[in-house]
Amino acid sequence: MQSWCSCCATQGPASNKDALFRGPCFRSSGLNWPKTEIFIIFFGYMNQNLRDNFPFFQANPGLVYLDSAATALKPTAVLQALNDYNVNQSVNIHRGVYRLSQRATDTVETVRAKTARYLSDAGDALAVFVKGTTEGFNLLAHTLTSPESRLKDFFPAFASEKPPAILLSESEHHANLVPWQVAAKRSGYKLVYLKADADGRIGVSSAEAAALFDSYAIRIVSLSLQSNVTGIIHDLAAIRELAAKHGAVFIVDAAQAAVHVPQKVKALNADFVVFSAHKLFASTGLGAVIGRKPVFDACDTYQTGGGMIALVEHESSTYLEAPARFEAGTQPIAEIYALGAAIDFVTENQKVIHETDEKLRLYADEKLGALEIRVFGLSAGASRSPIYSFEIPGVHAHDTGTLLDEQDICIRAGHHCCQLLMRSFGVAATARASFSVYNTQDDVDRLISGIGYVKKIFRK
Ligand SMILES: Cc1ncc(COP(=O)(O)O)c(C=O)c1O
Repeated sequence: MQSWCSCCATQGPASNKDALFRGPCFRSSGLNWPKTEIFIIFFGYMNQNLRDNFPFFQANPGLVYLDSAATALKPTAVLQALNDYNVNQSVNIHRGVYRLSQRATDTVETVRAKTARYLSDAGDALAVFVKGTTEGFNLLAHTLTSPESRLKDFFPAFASEKPPAILLSESEHHANLVPWQVAAKRSGYKLVYLKADADGRIGVSSAEAAALFDSYAIRIVSLSLQSNVTGIIHDLAAIRELAAKHGAVFIVDAAQAAVHVPQKVKALNADFVVFSAHKLFASTGLGAVIGRKPVFDACDTYQTGGGMIALVEHESSTYLEAPARFEAGTQPIAEIYALGAAIDFVTENQKVIHETDEKLRLYADEKLGALEIRVFGLSAGASRSPIYSFEIPGVHAHDTGTLLDEQDICIRAGHHCCQLLMRSFGVAATARASFSVYNTQDDVDRLISGIGYVKKIFRK
């Protein structure tokens, strides 16, 4: 009888390369398994959806990871891509005339094209690599408010004589707030906010939104499609239309939406989309700003130095076109390889990812909704992904997090970089459990009994 590998579900000897990413394999222990047990393993494998792709769970058995909105775990394919670059290539890109460097350059450029296509349907869409969503917004805030940028031809609001303004919302992550505050102060822009309602939805009527565009010369609209606090997917269609009508730049923070609802990001046809690779099952230290190449080319530089210049003289320099224009210095090459593998992973598994999200959301909505705790944004129902911010009455979020950790449940506690939203909820902090494709209904049950334990300790 042939023996099967429990970790790869294939027959035959595992290669050394593959073995690097697996836990102990029973084949090496010499066990031969009967057919029924093979079926049970296979059925279990199918039931676990994509969980077996994540070696994290072999390294941390029994741990319930509910912090994917902060950073997602990495599947084997992503780890292999990181390893492939670091072990087999490890050379710099763009400047090498030798074949290995050219091969690495080709891979990076292929990932760049794949990244743009993942979140944009525009024919001339281009991905500029940055450190993450935060750096992406720093780049945009700097360059879009710079007098050196030539944006009037693309966005008529930049030709308006009225005092310029930037439209944000109270639901934004600080990454999409603070860079605009700094830029506004430096460049004389006014900041205008859409209010968040009691559930955390961007609660503004189309009439109110239209009035804002009439009152101010709004040049920039920058909003998150999906909240990292409540998981709510905001309905941005009307605001997007108004931005287009008034000739404003429309920017989407897709840090969460890139994972859960990439098609909705695309449907908005934003002028710029920003996201982080590490929330999309890839590595930290990388993200992208996706926009149209001609618009990037009309923009002022951000960081300067090697790799982005055409000609350097004593007093001044000229610059390359985008994307090189915005990518001074050596790029995180291994992380770009990993992003390519991550985009393949989510594209190939789009259906399972969506179904798992929905299954977990329905189950967790019911279970958490039945507890005597405050769950923020729960009423938004199907317009959400399974991200739950909650408050156990009378218990500080940090105590909740610490007591859940005692039970091997990893959640996040704090303001989640959304102090304006916390203020509108009337709290300083919440506990947040965020689910992903590797989570199971059992993880929801563990969270529910964990919350029961917290309540018992605090006698709530
Ligand atoms: C909606 C949203 N925007 C921006 C960010 C910032 O991302 P990063 O820390 O990767 O730059 C996050 C991270 O949690 C987020 O959830």
